[in-house]
Amino acid sequence: MLHTPIKWLGGKQRVAKEIVSLFPLEYGDYFEPFLGGGSLFLYHLQNAQHDQRKFFLSDLNKDIISWWNSVKTDVDALIDELRFIKSLYENHDDRKKNYQNLRSVFNLMSDYDTRRAAWFFFLVNTAFDGLSRYNKKGEFNAAFGGLSHSRHGEGLMRLTFDVPQDCLKNLSDLLSQFDVTFNCLDFQQVKSATGDLVVLDPPYVPFQGRKIDASSYNPQAFKLHNEVVEYCRKIDVTGGYFLLCNHFTEDLADEFSDAKFVLIRREHTKTFSGKSDSRQKTLEIFVRNFS
Ligand SMILES: C[S@@+](CC[C@H](N)C(=O)[O-])C[C@H]1O[C@@H](n2cnc3c(N)ncnc32)[C@H](O)[C@@H]1O
Repeated sequence: MLHTPIKWLGGKQRVAKEIVSLFPLEYGDYFEPFLGGGSLFLYHLQNAQHDQRKFFLSDLNKDIISWWNSVKTDVDALIDELRFIKSLYENHDDRKKNYQNLRSVFNLMSDYDTRRAAWFFFLVNTAFDGLSRYNKKGEFNAAFGGLSHSRHGEGLMRLTFDVPQDCLKNLSDLLSQFDVTFNCLDFQQVKSATGDLVVLDPPYVPFQGRKIDASSYNPQAFKLHNEVVEYCRKIDVTGGYFLLCNHFTEDLADEFSDAKFVLIRREHTKTFSGKSDSRQKTLEIFVRNFS
């Protein structure tokens, strides 16, 4: 089974099998408008019969979409560039400084081509917790993550960046066997049709409690979640299928209290960033409009 080689905040690798088991057995085309690292998509691609199905994958992050497109159409050049980046990164002992220098070079690149996609892959996989974060000027500014991922206590000097060339080539081969399209889009621009399946894994509501206090969290995330709820309702009205994943909140459950929606709650144990021993139970909710 091929897993995504890109580290992505909110990635669903560990629970992909469980989430994919909630998909309908039959449906038309597949849409995933919050693709990120693509764990759900890849698991599903390799574990079902797809026949003539098309896959429409999208995300608002231009770099992740450009990376997926490079894996699909230009994997040899991507691997060559990654080997070059590896040699730069491992050439000097102070890996943290190297990371920061390479990040500055990346921020000078204006074209979303294979070269930039390779540097992006390196940065995200070397950054803290697979974080893809940009400042207001659009510069990638996630901090170096090397030390927090060094489980055996080795220092910065021994950290390496491994180019997963076999995985990238196999991934490219896999994508070439299906009708797969990657686009940089806001999820609201994604249009599915009757009978299609839309799987939505938006960023989590930054809230761990049960009842939302509007002053306690980011208003932009609140807006996004209202829009996601509206979007799901539209899919339902047009006769499509949707499956939405998120943290459980009573507000989200209330939005889908109509009997035609199926709400599934699951407890998951998560490891929180920066504290490798900090494992916490979270309650997840899955909402779907089919049984
Ligand atoms: C929780 S992550 C998805 C993780 C993915 N399922 C995986 O396993 O890697 C959420 C994604 O939503 C994307 N995103 C945030 N706002 C968006 C929007 N308005 N439209 C489309 N994508 C958006 C982010 O770039 C991020 O990749």
